[in-house]
Amino acid sequence: MRKTIYILNGPNLNLLGKREPHLYGHQTLADVEALCQAAAGELGVSIRFRQSNAEHQLIDWIQEARDEASAIVINPAAYTHTSIAILDALKAFAGPVIEIHISDIHKREAFRQHSYVSLRANDVIAGKGIEGYVLALRRAVELLN
Ligand code: DQA
Repeated sequence: MRKTIYILNGPNLNLLGKREPHLYGHQTLADVEALCQAAAGELGVSIRFRQSNAEHQLIDWIQEARDEASAIVINPAAYTHTSIAILDALKAFAGPVIEIHISDIHKREAFRQHSYVSLRANDVIAGKGIEGYVLALRRAVELLN
């Protein structure tokens, strides 16, 4: 059976393509999902691709992944820099966790340069645009194999 990888997206990523396109580009979250579906097909895995603006919803999906997924790819968006609760939920997940950011958070404002999620993530991909999701998926599969 194909392994399932959860791809979780945090707040404001529903506005991808409309929101600060100089930073995040012109492609939408639906485009990102299509890119991920194509990559998943090539990699022989299934994905569940989700977005929420609510911290509790992301935590519920991470907890659900304990039973449903082999790995998690997550762009926690602004919760990256604030959420100990998301970090704790990820710590309760046993499989690989890949953190992805479209922009290079390490070269932006000081408050974006700290990530709680990085304390748990097996790898962090930042600044590669939406292609970073494919790199993250590939890395998750590498770590599973
Ligand atoms: C982001 C970077 C975060 O700092 C920001 O809050 C986002 C998007 C990125 O993908 O580059 O919403 O995670």
